Amino acid sequence: MSWGLENRLARMFSPTSTNSLMLAVDHGYFMGPTHHLENARATITPLLPHADALALTRGILRKCVDPSATIPIVLRVSGGATILQEDLSHEAITTSMIEAARLNVSAVALSVFVGAPHEHESLTHLAGLVNEGEEYGIPVMAITAVGKELEKRDARYLALACRVSAELGAHIVKTYYCEDFSRVVEGCPVPLVVAGGPKLDSDRAALELARNAIDQGAHGIDMGRNIWQSDHPVAMLKALRAIVHEKASVREALDVLASERARTPVRDPAATA
Ligand code: 5RP
Repeated sequence: MSWGLENRLARMFSPTSTNSLMLAVDHGYFMGPTHHLENARATITPLLPHADALALTRGILRKCVDPSATIPIVLRVSGGATILQEDLSHEAITTSMIEAARLNVSAVALSVFVGAPHEHESLTHLAGLVNEGEEYGIPVMAITAVGKELEKRDARYLALACRVSAELGAHIVKTYYCEDFSRVVEGCPVPLVVAGGPKLDSDRAALELARNAIDQGAHGIDMGRNIWQSDHPVAMLKALRAIVHEKASVREALDVLASERARTPVRDPAATA
């Protein structure tokens, strides 16, 4: 692994906990102005000091994050299908590696659609991106997205998708938590981070998801909606931080959440504009 590639990974994953708390705000690339991310700058800005990395597209990076920001960037470089399509797997590489280098990102990310109609393209895009990323010293994160026709997120499917991604050279794999998650971890030789998925019924459920994923071997989370769609996004991020980096139990994380909620009682009104 080149020095640059290792250095970029080390900026995102804590050397002490070996985990990363990534904040995902890339949803607009296929979902449009997602609830509470309509005004992306207002949502993102207060959260930046509390995350280890920020996952987004170049459009939102250029318009909604100040160039003076020091947070490591995970740049989504795949896209081309929206929620209006039945087949979400028809994606292309939308941002070049040289643009990623110009934007000084810490990693690039693309979706892989194992078992979907455009499986072959997404997997060969991953392999090609890894070849380029290694030339530039930029790590590649594969996102084991599931198309509309593949809502099944069980350990068998996710273990397959994660292992295939690692075999093709992904340096990090983002996946979903599922029952028997340790089976997914066992079969994947590179760090796994876990997405949150749609907003859960409670903050507790999101904290439990993070705790369970890390207990079973995930190296962190790359979470979006369960943070910025919560009533207290900063408090939620701090509570997740305690889980990801400080081995906090769900009970301890809920205590962090309660004390932070008391300090920041209302969501930034601009974020809901
Ligand atoms: C969208 C993504 C998201 O970044 C990922 O799903 C994480 O966000 P959330 O926790 O809201 O699911 O890859 O394709």
